Amino acid sequence: MTTRPIVSEPAENLCEVTFDSKLEKRIADTLKQYPTPRAALLPVLWLCQDRYGWISPGVMRAVAQRLGENPAHVEGVVTFYTMFRTRPPASYVLQVCRTLSCAMCGGKELAEHLTTKLGVGFGERTPDGLFELHAVECLGACGSAPVVQINDDYYESMTPEKIDAVLETLTRKA
Ligand code: FES
Repeated sequence: MTTRPIVSEPAENLCEVTFDSKLEKRIADTLKQYPTPRAALLPVLWLCQDRYGWISPGVMRAVAQRLGENPAHVEGVVTFYTMFRTRPPASYVLQVCRTLSCAMCGGKELAEHLTTKLGVGFGERTPDGLFELHAVECLGACGSAPVVQINDDYYESMTPEKIDAVLETLTRKA
């Protein structure tokens, strides 16, 4: 599996945001699929996160303006859902499942292994900006526990040895 690194736009580039033509077209195509602009808010935010790597206050304002929404409503939605990133992420965001099936199949040990291996706690990133570690609830792949999601990809039936090999591959690619 080849997990693509997240390429995020620096904060200084996202103070005042104007969507480029490619993103604007994706937004326009998305809006056609929903009865109201408000109903398209979540998918439009996903498009923005895909484009910029995260959602800055400037991106929130641009989305609010594009959809004719109140900026406070957009901010409320972004900050409610933990899957929206409100700061530039590391290249690889690791989400370790800590719910029951994974916990019973070695997830707890895997999580401890990762904190030691990366030298960071949950919610923290390595100093080189390569990895970021989070503990999350069920990722919906309980049948192949324990599971770690890295960016958009699932790594299933993980062991400390297997995750070490994955991290090595991702580090080599960086
Ligand atoms: S409990 Fe870990 S994926 Fe469901």
